Amino acid sequence: MTVLAKATVLVVLLVEVTIGAEALQDIPEFLHICQVQQPQYETCITNSINDLKPYLKVGVPEYHIPSLEPLKLKTISASPSNSLTMHANDINVYGASNFEINKIKMDLTNIVFNVDVALSNIAIDGKYEVDGKILLLPIHGSGPLSGNFSECIGACKIKGERFFDENGVEKIRIIDFRMKISVGKGSIKLDNLFDGEQVLGDVVNSAINNNFQLFMREFSPLLEMALSDAFQDIADKIIQQFSFSQLFPGA
Ligand SMILES: *[C@@H]1O[C@H](CO)[C@@H](O)[C@H](O)[C@H]1NC(C)=O
Repeated sequence: MTVLAKATVLVVLLVEVTIGAEALQDIPEFLHICQVQQPQYETCITNSINDLKPYLKVGVPEYHIPSLEPLKLKTISASPSNSLTMHANDINVYGASNFEINKIKMDLTNIVFNVDVALSNIAIDGKYEVDGKILLLPIHGSGPLSGNFSECIGACKIKGERFFDENGVEKIRIIDFRMKISVGKGSIKLDNLFDGEQVLGDVVNSAINNNFQLFMREFSPLLEMALSDAFQDIADKIIQQFSFSQLFPGA
C-alpha cells in the first residue's frame, strides 16, 4: 500500500470511529435514569417521566423531543361501518402534556411496558370530511372540527425489542404501541355540515353530543390509532439515541 492509501484508510477509520461515537448521545440531565435492580423501580420511572413533562411540553430539538403542545396527528381515515366514512386531518391535540401517570408496569425480560395515564382535559381542532350515516342520521360535509374531552384515561401497552444498530450498539426500539382510551365527558363540533346548511348541521351536532358515548364508540378506534402512532414515533426517536444499557442500567 502506498503512503497515500494508508493515510486514506486511516482517515476513513477515524471518521467511522467518530461517527460511531456520535451516534450515541450522553444521557441529558433532564432524563433521570433508574437502576433496574433498585427497589421501587417503577416509582422511580414514574418520577422520571413526571420530571420530563416540562421538556415534553416545549420540546428539546437536540434530543429529537418534539413539543407536545400541540401534539400533531397524522391523517385519520376510516370506515368504522360500511355506512360511514370519515377523514380527519391537520388535527392538533392540546393538553396532552398534562398527563398524570396512574400506573406503570415494566417487564424488562419481555420488554413490555404498561402505562396508564389520566388526562383531565384535552381539546382538539382540525379538519374533517364525513359521509354516510351516524346514529341513524345521514351525515355529509367537510370543514373545521373542534372538540373538548375531559376525564380521559389512556391505557398503553408498549412492546419493544432489543436490537444492534449499524455500529454494533445494543439499543431498544418499539415494535408495537397500543393505546386504549376512554373519555368521561366531551363535546365536538363539526362546522359546515351539509355545505353550511345550518339547521341540519345543528341537528346532527346535537345528536352527536347527546349521544356522545355512542359516537365515541365509533370514533375512539381512530383516535387511538392516531395517538398510538404519534406516541410510538416520539418514544422511538427518543430511546434510539441511547444504548440499552444507558437506559436500563443493571438489566
Ligand atoms: C371547548 O371549550 C372551549 C373553551 O371552554 C369553548 O370555547 C368551545 O366552544 C368548546 N368546544 C366544544 C366543541 O365544546
